[in-house]
Amino acid sequence: MSPSDLLRIAVVGGDGTGPEVVAEGLKVLEAVAALEGFKYELQPFDFGGQRYLRTGEVLPPGAIDELRGFDAIYLGAVGHPDVPPGVLEKGLLLELRFQLDQYINLRPVKLLPGVETPLADKGPDDIDFVVIRENTEDLYCGIGGFLKKNTPDEVATQTAIFSRKGCERCIRWAFEYTRRRNSPKKMLTLVAKTNVLTYGHDLWWRTFQEVARDFPDVKTDYNHVDACCMWMVKNPEYYDVIVTTNMFGDIITDLGGMLQGGMGVAAGGNINPDEGGTSMFEPMGGSAPKYTGQNVINPIAAINAVAMLLENAGQTQAADRVTRAVMHVTGTKMKSMAAGKMGYSTTQVGDLVVKALDATD
Ligand code: IPM
Ligand code: MN
Repeated sequence: MSPSDLLRIAVVGGDGTGPEVVAEGLKVLEAVAALEGFKYELQPFDFGGQRYLRTGEVLPPGAIDELRGFDAIYLGAVGHPDVPPGVLEKGLLLELRFQLDQYINLRPVKLLPGVETPLADKGPDDIDFVVIRENTEDLYCGIGGFLKKNTPDEVATQTAIFSRKGCERCIRWAFEYTRRRNSPKKMLTLVAKTNVLTYGHDLWWRTFQEVARDFPDVKTDYNHVDACCMWMVKNPEYYDVIVTTNMFGDIITDLGGMLQGGMGVAAGGNINPDEGGTSMFEPMGGSAPKYTGQNVINPIAAINAVAMLLENAGQTQAADRVTRAVMHVTGTKMKSMAAGKMGYSTTQVGDLVVKALDATD
């Protein structure tokens, strides 16, 4: 969309603490829209565990098509203690990623000022990279089955799918992103496991080499995923942008989330970069049922997700303003990023960010 248009956002608060952190994100959105002078419209959707328990369906018929009509989706969290594992994850989160073809999962790993990292002697200058995770293929496709289920001879299969189209569009977007980010390193690292996954990751490797020819200004690099975990801990400053497969991306971005101060901070974007595509932005932490309703959960990740949403919608100035305000609050106000230890309640942190929006002019 062009920055002058009305930004239409579908809001799915979801389960547990999802609605609480989303409320703080929307508070910040309202304030930044007033300051930057853009217009938006919200429509809430009650998808999540409670609706599923009430109706027996995760997404009602027609829901996907309705969501397609929005510029963006703002999602809180999915996961309910009374719903078996997988039902909401597959039926809601993965369904939206697949059906809306959000083939990029963008996960910045950035240590903000004042935020504690478990890595000794590393600071904000050392931890500042981005993981681009393919978001529609791999083991996530749900292809597999059982043979002789519940017998001693049982066999289970779970097939990883890698397509040329799927990896090429992700790798190409990652090169473009690295070029745009234009950091002094300007380096894109492919993370895979070509020494063992000699078919699927060979396809990724060959495609990476081919696409690289169109980006001679971007330095290319390769790490096996196990080595990547080691380097992320030992030398995080080595990385600029990482592009990786869905399953490995899931795993290394939780590690990345901890490096940047935990799940109270980490946000991600599920992006469909194609013309008219609908992208979805979310804090990476789960629904945290034990903290629900206590006003103690950290809303910073959800506010960071708003900044990502705005950036993706072309509201760059508004996005930067939110990021600066968040940095001011983590750097000068909050005691910790952990739930209940922030020195402020959830709503107070939201208020502090709102206040900092114009203080940083
Ligand atoms: C994530 C989550 C999801 C994933 C789960 C909830 C299905 O862990 O967004 O990283 O595995 O992608
Ligand atoms: Mn994950």
